[in-house]
Amino acid sequence: MRMVDIISKKRYGGQLSREEIDFFIRGYTMGTIPDYQASALAMAICFQGMDYREMADLTIAMVKSGETIDLSRINGVKVDKHSTGGVGDTTTLVLAPLVASLGIPVAKMSGRGLGYTGGTIDKLESIEGFHAEITENKFIQLVNDNKIAVMGQAGNLTPADKKLYALRDVTATVESIPLIASSIMSKKIAAGADAIVLDVKAGSGAFMKNDEDAEKLARAMVRIGNRLGRNSMAVISDMSQPLGFAVGNSLEVKEAVDTLKGKGPHDLEELVLTLGSHMVLLAGKADNTDEAREKLVESIKSGRALEKFKSFVKNQGGDSSIVDSPEKLPQAKYKIPVPAERDGVVSHISAGGIGISTMLLGAGRSTKEDSIDPSVGVVLRKKIGDRVKKGDELLMIYSNCRDVDGIAGRIRRDISIDSSAEKPELIHKIITK
Ligand code: URA
Ligand code: CA
Repeated sequence: MRMVDIISKKRYGGQLSREEIDFFIRGYTMGTIPDYQASALAMAICFQGMDYREMADLTIAMVKSGETIDLSRINGVKVDKHSTGGVGDTTTLVLAPLVASLGIPVAKMSGRGLGYTGGTIDKLESIEGFHAEITENKFIQLVNDNKIAVMGQAGNLTPADKKLYALRDVTATVESIPLIASSIMSKKIAAGADAIVLDVKAGSGAFMKNDEDAEKLARAMVRIGNRLGRNSMAVISDMSQPLGFAVGNSLEVKEAVDTLKGKGPHDLEELVLTLGSHMVLLAGKADNTDEAREKLVESIKSGRALEKFKSFVKNQGGDSSIVDSPEKLPQAKYKIPVPAERDGVVSHISAGGIGISTMLLGAGRSTKEDSIDPSVGVVLRKKIGDRVKKGDELLMIYSNCRDVDGIAGRIRRDISIDSSAEKPELIHKIITK
């Protein structure tokens, strides 16, 4: 087999066989296929696409390129959730303990944030003592004993994806639905998921800027998962503005705790209940989503979900007293309000812009080596569709540096006020097949 023939076949719109896809992934991982041939193929895939069979073959080839996590020692259906990345997306922090509180195992591998989308582990590490660097044995033991653990990236999972993603990043070949879908699904499958709930964001703050592309990506991932024997479904949710109110690590931990107490932002709670009810369904712990949702709501009301969060934090070395005393979380020195400059209705909040501003405050990383400041960020007071009067607080900046004029200016340009605006629908679509 020759790589040049494979590139040529795809360039003319042909379908690659499983053997050809395996040949490419194996050779590229080992280094016998050079970057220039891999980038030519990636570009051909960008233009010609792939069918679902090719995507599934590419996914499994990338899974096989490295180690996989074996969760078979954990009893029950291991349902994982993946979000395609948003701003202020506090979902996992709420969803994981909530679902675990129903006795469903949540064995979550999570990443750190890069750029303006925050990582779950960074958020959790703003809790004093919490650590996600645990061994696979410890991880499995925690999930068996307490139904929940979160672990940082372990082992050499999907090296083919790592190498290919880095290449795509510098060859303008990231934006291809088959490549994105197989990249995401390979990581979920390598991490041991039996079933997968996908939260695909659509809107200005997301990878997929419109519903049409978000739906294509969601369908591709659901098809790949189901072809590979992992029951999968997707929810397309709104990312035209940040989720909830808080954006920033410790601020989002507090928001998650509030939500587990039943006092969180409405949109965050709604997304958690939607995704959670599908996780419960896939785990076989309810007959339909209504019944699943009732169980989740009951777990929040009774305090069991909050208790689960506490025991989870404590088991991983964290100070669980932050649940009752959130002031023990890292606090920024300065709180600076940004007021509305006119009367009207909030019509636009650039999620991407807010994400960049929080990064500039120190909440995110520009390179993998950067350290982050857990205390800083912003808390929105108004969302799209809310009426404001001149001088009303639009949001609060939490900073450790007194002079935030530049950032406040940016934020003012990221929020528009008009004469009228509708609140966006949170759940755009649900894709089950
Ligand atoms: N996220 C991934 O993990 N892979 C992609 O290709 C794009 C986004
Ligand atoms: Ca949030």
